[in-house]
Amino acid sequence: MSARRPELTTTSTTARRPWWATAVTYQVYPRSFADSTGDGIGDLRGITSRLDHLVDLGVDAVWLSPIYVSPMADAGYDVADYRDVDPLFGTLADADALIAAAHERGLRLLMDLVPNHTSSAHRWFVSALAGAPGSEERARYLFRDGRGAGGSEPPNNWRSVFGGPAWTRVTEPDGRPGQWYLHLFAPEQPDLDWSDPQVRAEMGSVVRFWLDRGVDGFRVDVAHGLVKADGLPDWHADAPAASAAPDADGARPPMWDQDGVHEIYREWRSVVDGYDGDRVLIGETWAEQDRLSRYVRPDELHQTFAFALLQAPWDAAALRRGISDSIATAHEVGAAPTWVLSNHDVVRHPTRLALSGVADLLSGVLPTDPQPDPALADRRGRAASLMMIALPGAAYLYQGEELGLPEHTTMPASARQDPSFFREEGRIAGRDGARVPLPWSADEPGAGFGPGGATWLPPPDGWERHAADVQARDPGSTLRLYRAALALRRRLDLGGGALTWAEGFGDDVVAFSVSTPDSSVLVLATTGEPVRLPDGGEVALSSTEIMGGLLPADSCVWIVREPTS
Ligand code: GLC
Repeated sequence: MSARRPELTTTSTTARRPWWATAVTYQVYPRSFADSTGDGIGDLRGITSRLDHLVDLGVDAVWLSPIYVSPMADAGYDVADYRDVDPLFGTLADADALIAAAHERGLRLLMDLVPNHTSSAHRWFVSALAGAPGSEERARYLFRDGRGAGGSEPPNNWRSVFGGPAWTRVTEPDGRPGQWYLHLFAPEQPDLDWSDPQVRAEMGSVVRFWLDRGVDGFRVDVAHGLVKADGLPDWHADAPAASAAPDADGARPPMWDQDGVHEIYREWRSVVDGYDGDRVLIGETWAEQDRLSRYVRPDELHQTFAFALLQAPWDAAALRRGISDSIATAHEVGAAPTWVLSNHDVVRHPTRLALSGVADLLSGVLPTDPQPDPALADRRGRAASLMMIALPGAAYLYQGEELGLPEHTTMPASARQDPSFFREEGRIAGRDGARVPLPWSADEPGAGFGPGGATWLPPPDGWERHAADVQARDPGSTLRLYRAALALRRRLDLGGGALTWAEGFGDDVVAFSVSTPDSSVLVLATTGEPVRLPDGGEVALSSTEIMGGLLPADSCVWIVREPTS
């Protein structure tokens, strides 16, 4: 077995600890959480009506994916009006009611801020199209003249994360083919130019608008993308469009993780700190591991998602490395580590962990791809979740993972909605498989998603087996495992604990203790052979039944030990 140095987290339990340092935050994807109207699309009243599910689950905060006015070219990540709610989801009054209802229950509520791009239906972009090249209206976006004869080639060779070129040519008001504008995502998501003072002022004002309404902070979308390298230089045409990895010479992609983004976060941090010191900014930063800590320096974002576990295969060494790296990164700058296994952009983790060789997590799984073994997916998913919930720091759950939902891997092309499926012309599945509406009640049509049973994406066969009402009654269910794990995490204050690697369990086991002044929990997760449990301590939770003192393969156990002091 390779030698591993014991490693400690140092979240102090004595100093005043901000709530977010140890919080468990639940991501609500509003389209797919709960529908109150029967149109098959989730909405704010649906969320409010199901808040008690989140209280019973035992989370501390809710992050809402975008609810703003949007043509929904990218499911709301294309915002046309940052200060109002899309009628599909309800009204501003419904949002106020949701914020109040969450707070009454002791839940914090985070919004999703989308600052990298607006919708092409945003009034700014509409006036940019009507404006002339070089006009003030165009300066808020990245309009450029094309290359080649008559400007008929895009200004550079960048590709969209959703496939195809990252540039679209406009028709000028006089009817002639004109300039091009940059969109790192869909053409309906034009990138803003963050060197424009109006852009900065406007987004700061949007931040204040929602903080004034009482939200507890923001998840910042594409936080590593706002600033582009001067001159928008070409990049390697064969590099994956979403990757922030440097090339062989150490040069970094000109569209991601530019140093200029940090100034923006310093500005927002001072806005947020101007409230009551209790509001938080968490960045979606797909940057390289060794660059992540820069985002969470004391005067920048409070947290950044660590995608190390979300990207790790079901392999103990890879999981240990992911945990070590994330802790080390956070501690470089005194931030709390964060953990996430699933979100609305990637293959749900039970399915992902049961598939070897899913090359690209953002690609989804097509019906023609190798299919996962459902029992293995369930088993590994539960084990990974139990392991993650024990880790010190902040944890982020994606709706439905508490029900052990798998990815929908057999969705027909005719039902798909994700722009990446269409931009890639069906070569990849895209993200719809992770976005299927939640099953609430097994015996109701549409598994109780809303009245009448309509769902905007069709569920896979057997979806009702995962329904929350069935699982609430079954002591062996994944929902009950999550509830028990979150309750014990809270009672023992594991989020504020210190992690030490445990030796002697073999290479195929992720083995660590989490200690607080009052207790110590030994966590063992085995990705390989069964493991004999050590003597002493009490088995508090396990993801699979333990028999004869053996932890079966693909399982995780928490063993609570005597007080450490
Ligand atoms: C983020 C969101 C994703 C969206 C993209 C563009 O990665 O999580 O859903 O498509 O940004 O806004």
